[in-house]
Amino acid sequence: MNIVLLGAPGAGKGTQAAKLVEEFGTPHISTGDMLRAAVKAGTPLGKKAKSYMDAGDLVPDEVIIGLVTERLQEPDTARGFILDGFPRTSAQAVALDAELGKLERPLDAALLVDVDFEVIIGRLTSRRMCRDCGYIGSAADATCPKCSGEMYQRDDDNETTVRNRLDVYEKSTAPLIDYYRGCDLLVSIDGDRDVEEVYADVKKALGL
Ligand code: AP5
Ligand code: ZN
Repeated sequence: MNIVLLGAPGAGKGTQAAKLVEEFGTPHISTGDMLRAAVKAGTPLGKKAKSYMDAGDLVPDEVIIGLVTERLQEPDTARGFILDGFPRTSAQAVALDAELGKLERPLDAALLVDVDFEVIIGRLTSRRMCRDCGYIGSAADATCPKCSGEMYQRDDDNETTVRNRLDVYEKSTAPLIDYYRGCDLLVSIDGDRDVEEVYADVKKALGL
């Protein structure tokens, strides 16, 4: 499967990607995870990205396009890939098409996980992540149910930053819905249901 997961911040892209990875072992390319790892490691990329991420703004296209282009050239993507959080702008979508054309690995689908913004604000302000294994949970998880690791709140999961992320999504990323519809790749999934119900639709959309 060569897929793009589209959807607003907090729609459940990471949650659905984790389930696909667990069941099918497909490489998961999350630009948010890559950037957070760079921030944690204190690399030049991380130093550049941090202030954009903390404000809920997008990191500049040229930085992120270079990062994803390099990652797609790694041999494991011949088994397929799940792009999560990329592309987020028209320039990123055009660059992705060009790179996948070069690699002769066209997209099979762009799955839109669709959830109302008011639901999302509740989800994100109560989201907690595992420091050790990356498990995505909520404030109800005192420790990680997978590995007993420490749960923490992302710096950008406060209400002010979440609202800005949603504004940025509407302005810069939502136009990609029409872009992928025009390419006949878009499948829209109602993400405001139980995680397992959403996942069943994700698999159906992918013919799995
Ligand atoms: P990124 O990490 O990509 O964040 P995001 O798009 O804001 O997405 P999230 O990780 O917040 O949400 P998600 O849809 O994965 O939801 P999740 O499954 O966790 O990006 C962070 C920042 O990095 C950006 O702001 C930007 O600065 C930068 N960046 C990244 N990519 C970039 C790019 N391409 N260009 C430029 N800048 C870039 O679920 C959320 C919560 O809901 C969890 O608590 C979960 O348990 C819960 N949940 C999930 N599904 C359900 C369900 N069905 N029912 C109930 N609860 C659910
Ligand atoms: Zn864990």
